[in-house]
Amino acid sequence: MVLLVPGEGSRSMAQKLAKLTGWHVGEADFKTFPDGEDYARILTGVKGQDVVVVQTGYPTARLWKLLLLLNAARENGAASLRCVVPYLPYARQDRLFLEGEALSARLVADTIRIYAKEVVTVEPHKEEVAAFFHGMLRSVNAIEPFAREFKSRSIDVVLAPDAGARPRAEAVASHIGAKADHLEKKRLSGDHVEMKPKSLDVRGKRVAILDDIISTGGTMVKATEQLVKQGAAMVLCAGVHGLFIGDAVGRLKMAGAEEVISSDTIESPYSRVSVAEGIAASLGVPASVRR
Ligand code: R5P
Repeated sequence: MVLLVPGEGSRSMAQKLAKLTGWHVGEADFKTFPDGEDYARILTGVKGQDVVVVQTGYPTARLWKLLLLLNAARENGAASLRCVVPYLPYARQDRLFLEGEALSARLVADTIRIYAKEVVTVEPHKEEVAAFFHGMLRSVNAIEPFAREFKSRSIDVVLAPDAGARPRAEAVASHIGAKADHLEKKRLSGDHVEMKPKSLDVRGKRVAILDDIISTGGTMVKATEQLVKQGAAMVLCAGVHGLFIGDAVGRLKMAGAEEVISSDTIESPYSRVSVAEGIAASLGVPASVRR
C-alpha cells in the first residue's frame, strides 16, 4: 500500500489523490521553535511503506518542510520515496543570467533528488528545469481541467498574455472549440502602451486570459483593463498557479475581471480547477483503476 504524506500546503490535494487512488493519507505534525527552526514528524508509521510526500512549494518556506518530510520518511525506514510538488519553486532561475548568481532551480532539484526517486509537478515555469532532475521529473499539464472549466463558462476566446504562453491557450481552446490568440503590446505614444489581441476582435466575446502564474496580478490587470476597453462581454482571469501576492485578486476585480480562478497546485479559495487526476495518472495509477 502507498502512503500519501501531505505537508501543510497540500492537505486537500492529498485527500483528492487518496480518493482517486485508494491510497491512505498519513498525518504529519509541524512546529516552529522560538529560534525559528522547524520541526516535522510523520505520525503515521512509514517503515516498509511506499511513501509519496505531497507538498507544494509556495510560499517558499514550504520547500524546507517538504525536505523535512522526505528526510523523516527516509530516516524512519520508508521502503520507497516519491514526492508531488504541485508548484515547483525557483523554476525561473534555470540558468545563470549574471555572473556570480546561484542556480536555484538546480539546487532545488539536487536537494529533492537526495531523497525522492521520482518527482511529479505541474507545469513548471520553465520546462528546462526537468534536466536538473535527470529524468526523474514528471510534469503534468493543466489543459484538460481548464478546458472543462472554460466550457462550463461558455468561453469564446482563450487569450495568452504573451506569445510564450500561447501554446497553452491554443491547447485549451482547441479542446472546447474556442478561438485562441495572444496579447501584443503596441506603443501608441511615449508613455501610452496598448495591449491588444494579435488578430482577434474581443468585442462582445466571453474571454479567458490564461497564464501559468498569477503572482502580483500586474500582467493580468493590464490585460483585463485593455480587454474591457475593447468591449469584451466578460473577462475571466485564470492562472495555473495562483500565488495571488498582496491584493492581486482585488486589483483584478477592480480592473474589470468578472472572476479570478486558479488550479489547486497552490490551495486557495480561488482553486476552482483540480489537477489531481493528472497527478494521479503521473504517479502510475491508470484511469481504469482511478475512482
Ligand atoms: C511570467 O514569466 C509568468 O508567466 C507570468 O506572466 C508572471 O509570473 C505573472 O506575474 P504577475 O502576476 O506579477 O504579473
